[in-house]
Amino acid sequence: MERKKFLKTLGASAAFAVAFPCLHACSSDAEEELETFPVPDGVDFTVDLTAAEAAPLANNGGFILKNFVVIARNLEGNLVAASQVCSHQQTEEVRFISEDGGIFRCSTHGSRFSQNGTPLNTITNNPLKIFNTELNGDVLRVFE
Ligand code: FES
Repeated sequence: MERKKFLKTLGASAAFAVAFPCLHACSSDAEEELETFPVPDGVDFTVDLTAAEAAPLANNGGFILKNFVVIARNLEGNLVAASQVCSHQQTEEVRFISEDGGIFRCSTHGSRFSQNGTPLNTITNNPLKIFNTELNGDVLRVFE
């Protein structure tokens, strides 16, 4: 079959796909620029555990986000806190998940951290910043 005749049989859309295969995948913008944040510093605030914002902390495995800190009730029922800003590339995607006994995980590239901030995979060697917690009645203090 002649080239011209062959292209005609493909139709317009197929010819476009053959001519411009890289429109999406080969774009120089393919790797989106990450929005980054500073790791929280000088943290010292309280959370009223009876307030609506703290409702997820009533259950083991629940967590809330406040002031770029992830505050979680771990699977043993203790209140723990870590930076919401990842130690890998400073996105604010760190959350508490109930896998592997309860860990912090960043969804941007999949870094996983123990509750003491130790990296659990090879995505980063930088520990996740961990904060102290202190419970006084129904008031939780989160501090450095
Ligand atoms: S920024 Fe968190 S894993 Fe890369």
